[in-house]
Amino acid sequence: MRSSPPEVCIAILAAAALGVTACTQGAYPLDFFNEMHYQPSQRREQPDRLAPPPDAVPITGRRSAISFDQATELQNPVNRTPANLERGRQLYRLNCVACHGQNGDGHGVVAGYFQAAGFVPPVAFSSERVRGRTDGQLQWLITYGIGNMPTFKHLLNEQDVWTLVLAIRELGGQ
Ligand code: HEC
Repeated sequence: MRSSPPEVCIAILAAAALGVTACTQGAYPLDFFNEMHYQPSQRREQPDRLAPPPDAVPITGRRSAISFDQATELQNPVNRTPANLERGRQLYRLNCVACHGQNGDGHGVVAGYFQAAGFVPPVAFSSERVRGRTDGQLQWLITYGIGNMPTFKHLLNEQDVWTLVLAIRELGGQ
């Protein structure tokens, strides 16, 4: 194949430019197009990757879909330690306080709008309704939502939802 000199020149320049941008990781203040170069691929002279055993099944990641009734018997896998309680309170402040209020009494800043619109307002955690739920039911309700309470299944992982159950119990005086 023959190329005329200007084309060769452009090709070399383009290759050089690509080489420079592709090899200087972190050159962009914001790595918007992270390019395939930065993927965790196997590089030259790296040892073989270990493949998972053929009968391995994933035990983390996707949550298994269960019904409300099936959730009733589930035990909270997150222990009520001071650290877990603190994390539960944190998760609560981030995700739930606006509706359920600082103390879990159902009087969050937006609760009034529910009432004004004629919707069932956020529930107090000290109510019989919530105190009478099993831990498994609470985690199901937080995961999938109920009435006008949104689902949290895309925002919180299973561990976080169970941790929140600790916070509900604490706020509900249980
Ligand atoms: C947008 C407002 C809103 C947010 C945010 C919200 N809730 Fe609710 N929640 C509600 C409403 C409204 C209800 C009552 C729904 C109904 O009965 O129709 C409710 C009900 C509940 C109940 C009682 C369910 C039952 O049937 O016993 C629990 C427990 C609860 N929420 C926990 C949480 C937790 C934990 C969070 C944060 C992860 C949260 N909620 C976030 C509005 C909200």
